[in-house]
Amino acid sequence: MDIYSLPDYRNFEHKINGKKTHLFILKNRTGMQVAFTDYGARIVSVLVPDKAGNLRDVVLGFNSIHEYLQANEQYHGATIGRFANRIANGRFHLDDKEYTLQQNNGPNCLHGGPSGFHAKVWDRRTSFKKKIDFCYVSPDGEEGFPGNLKVTVSYELTDDNEIVIKYKAETDKKTVINLTNHAYFNLDGEGQGDVLSHILHLPSSHFLPIDENQIPLDSEASVYGTAFDFRSPKKISQDIDNDEVQLKHGNGYDHTFVNRQPISQVAASAYSPNSGIRLQVFTTEPGIQLYTGNFLSRKDTGKSGRQYSSRSAFCFETQHYPDSPNHPQFPSTVLEPGQVFESETIYKFSLVK
Ligand code: GLA
Repeated sequence: MDIYSLPDYRNFEHKINGKKTHLFILKNRTGMQVAFTDYGARIVSVLVPDKAGNLRDVVLGFNSIHEYLQANEQYHGATIGRFANRIANGRFHLDDKEYTLQQNNGPNCLHGGPSGFHAKVWDRRTSFKKKIDFCYVSPDGEEGFPGNLKVTVSYELTDDNEIVIKYKAETDKKTVINLTNHAYFNLDGEGQGDVLSHILHLPSSHFLPIDENQIPLDSEASVYGTAFDFRSPKKISQDIDNDEVQLKHGNGYDHTFVNRQPISQVAASAYSPNSGIRLQVFTTEPGIQLYTGNFLSRKDTGKSGRQYSSRSAFCFETQHYPDSPNHPQFPSTVLEPGQVFESETIYKFSLVK
């Protein structure tokens, strides 16, 4: 087993567009340690104890800001905005006005555009031993979206080994918003091969089927009788290569699961029998994008010096449905002036012995 440690602070001291970047570290009483950078308000490392008591770093990422900048952009650990996932043809309407966005994923706008929140240096507001807040003011028209948008993402590490993420946003013009975190998890530790033998459990009875451009169709589909049925715990490998058109469109799992659980109940969980580490997700969001790292392609070498290949991690991106502005029947992503957007997600780590 590798001995995992946090990256060096000095490797994160840099300037991007005139703004300084840093590494920040939160620690709790049970020994868990989480590192963040203000570049993209990203999670850089999550060290949690495994069943033998050794710390494993369970998220993919890099040892320096330079590597984040040079990497093929996979949104590692980043805060995604203004709009997580895809907007078809980079276009949407609000009150009969058409807005156009950059098409950075085939015909689609992906993750807020090429210079979305993942590529901004956020301002740090408060930072205590177990809590850190990042703020960003996105100017009217940035990446094509209307309204000056003030956003805060706050991360707290509890003594119960939870990372509590709270988002808040306000606008001065009617706009759309969909925020998430894009951490890639490997519960055996980053660089420890693929996640195909991880066991997933999602209570969702429905998911959103997608077209060949990965845009959701208009209605939810039942998971019954498909590879998308994780209502009983199942290995990621069990059905991922089934001959189902939905798996072909996503190149594996890259789909939104409909979440009807309140934040007090588990919306998704994953477990590795090898490390004994379990991740449980709790959220106020109506969807969870399960992405099995299908587009990771060995181009990038991560923190422990190993290449990140396809399916070497998975994401549970809690969010509203992709392309919502173009599907009036989906839960609304509209934010009006005077309203406060609020959203909360908890990633909780524990051991299954
Ligand atoms: C999300 C998308 C994927 C992919 C990744 C980033 O999870 O749904 O299709 O774009 O982000 O590579």
